[in-house]
Amino acid sequence: MLRSDSIDVRDMAIVHRTFRSAYAESAQLVRALPTPSQDRVTFLADHIDFALEMLHHHHASEDLLLYPLLLDRVPTQAAMTEGVSHEHEVVQTVLDSAVASCASWRQHATVETGEALATSLDHLNEVLQPHLDDEEQQVVPLAAVTLTQEEWDAVGEHSSAHIPRAKRAVTFGMILEPLDEDDRNFMKRSLPAAVRLLYPLMIQRPWTKYASTLRTGT
Ligand SMILES: [Fe+2]
Repeated sequence: MLRSDSIDVRDMAIVHRTFRSAYAESAQLVRALPTPSQDRVTFLADHIDFALEMLHHHHASEDLLLYPLLLDRVPTQAAMTEGVSHEHEVVQTVLDSAVASCASWRQHATVETGEALATSLDHLNEVLQPHLDDEEQQVVPLAAVTLTQEEWDAVGEHSSAHIPRAKRAVTFGMILEPLDEDDRNFMKRSLPAAVRLLYPLMIQRPWTKYASTLRTGT
C-alpha cells in the first residue's frame, strides 16, 4: 500500500556520497605512493578496510530491513526491487576482492600489490556508482511512500551500530564533510545534545586530524 505522503529519506543519498568518493580517493592515495613506510601502509590499509566494511554493513542492513519490506508491501514493484537488490551481490563479489587486495598490500607493499589494490578499488567504484544511482532513483522513492519513518531510520541505525565506538567521530566527520549547511544540520539532529554542542571538539577536530593524515601523510 503506497501512501500519498513521504517520509524523510534524504540520509540515504547523504551516506552514499561518502561511498561514492571513498574508494576513488583511496585508489588515488595508494597510487601516489604505493610503497610508503609501514606505518603509512597500516594507516591506509585500515582506512580502506574500514570503508569496505562500512559498505558491507550498509548493504547488509538494507538486505535485512529495507528490501524485504518493499517486496512484501509492494509486490507490483517486485521485479525492480529484486533487480536492485541483486546488485548487492555483484557489489559484494567485487568488494571481497578489494578486501583480499588490501590484505596483500598490507602484508607486502610493492608497486604491483599497490596497483592491484588501486585497480580493485576502481572496479568497485565502477560497479557501485550505478547501483547507488538505481537505489536512489528507484528504491528510495518507493520506500519513502511505503515504510514508516521508524522503519526507515532503523535501516541506518542498524548500519551505524557496526561502527566501532573509537571510529564514530571520524566517520561522522567524514560523512558531513561534503554536505551543505542544511544537510549537516539534518544529520546532526541524530546526535545527543551534548555532542552537538561540543561538535567542533568531539567530531570536527578528530576528523580534521584524521583527514590530514589520510591526505597528506607519507
Ligand atoms: Fe544504500
